[in-house]
Amino acid sequence: KSPIRLALLGCGTVGTEVVKLLHEQAGDLTARIGAPLELVGIAVRRLGRERGDLPVDPALFTTDALGLVKRDDVDVVIEVVGGIEPARTWITEALRAGKSVVTANKALLAEDGGALHDAAAEGNADLYYEASVAGAIPLLRPLRESLHGDRVTAVTGIVNGTTNFILSSMASTGAGFNEALEEATELGYAEADPTADVEGFDAAAKAAILASLAFHTRVTAADVFREGMTSVTAGDMASAKEMGCTIKLLCIAQRTADSVSVRVHPAMIPLSHPLASVGDAFNAVFVEAEAAGPLMFYGRGAGGRPTASAVLGDIVAASRNKLTGTRAPSESNYAQLAVRPIGES
Ligand code: NDP
Ligand code: HSE
Repeated sequence: KSPIRLALLGCGTVGTEVVKLLHEQAGDLTARIGAPLELVGIAVRRLGRERGDLPVDPALFTTDALGLVKRDDVDVVIEVVGGIEPARTWITEALRAGKSVVTANKALLAEDGGALHDAAAEGNADLYYEASVAGAIPLLRPLRESLHGDRVTAVTGIVNGTTNFILSSMASTGAGFNEALEEATELGYAEADPTADVEGFDAAAKAAILASLAFHTRVTAADVFREGMTSVTAGDMASAKEMGCTIKLLCIAQRTADSVSVRVHPAMIPLSHPLASVGDAFNAVFVEAEAAGPLMFYGRGAGGRPTASAVLGDIVAASRNKLTGTRAPSESNYAQLAVRPIGES
């Protein structure tokens, strides 16, 4: 069979691990998909950057991401650069031209996901983004597919690994904020600008994506009430502990008959609560659905390799669809529920 041709945009924390997994799993992936995967180009910002011993031909690297996206021989575009522009232009260009897109870009999806889904519908192309929320945890596919026969009423949990790492370090070792953030950055958990993590923008973007999928509506990051965790002090953590509690940055999305409310903020939770024991950069998300009842999703929410696992899963799905002429579930038939301001019942 002819190979499925992949273009990789970005080769940083996540992209590097995508390259390695594609290489390590090549044989199994070919068997599972029914055709080999071929990486035809890798777009980066700095050609001269040291990238260790990556198992690819150095000639694949380019700084011309748009040129790579436009190549006729590309079937699937993988975007792991991040940010709004130029990622939006590249993804839109790919989708309109009928190329499948796999992305981890929650910031863009939460700002302009509707337009991306429209571009996918226009090009009859797949848009997959499992890695954009909760890293390795299979969470979006259950919301996009398995729970479609049910009615989800709430999604609650920890969706940012960096802040969970910082708060867990503060609670367990008494580490300071700056020290813990530095370590989270070194471990590849933090965003390029960690303000997105600590001020709750990253969690708010994920909350918007989760609420959109869970409640079949369009919620953007701007609709989400957001408070970061920079104001949580060592003293707050000690007081919480004295009360038998800890502090976590929570995402809380709820729906009523005709509206939704979505918020992200630090919250004190009892040590006996299952979320209290979620440490390191792990994430945990509870989904409540009318017929299914409560469901819990738990795993590594950040880091290059766990995130690359989710990206690879999407590459397999998109590649299979290419071979069989099928498509990812459509998200262009959304209702528009009102977003209820926090504090209004
Ligand atoms: P990095 O900053 O580590 O990597 C970004 C990559 O994009 C680098 O290879 C960089 O090139 C490249 N790049 C930046 N600007 C351009 C440009 N204009 N043209 C071409 N290439 C460019 O980010 P991460 O790998 O951590 O994150 C990537 C995406 O994945 C983001 O959307 C992030 O939110 C998301 N994500 C990250 C997770 C994580 O744990 N890190 C988890 C889940 C999602 P160069 O190497 O030359 O600098
Ligand atoms: N910076 C993000 C986090 C990466 O810490 O959760 C995973 O989306």
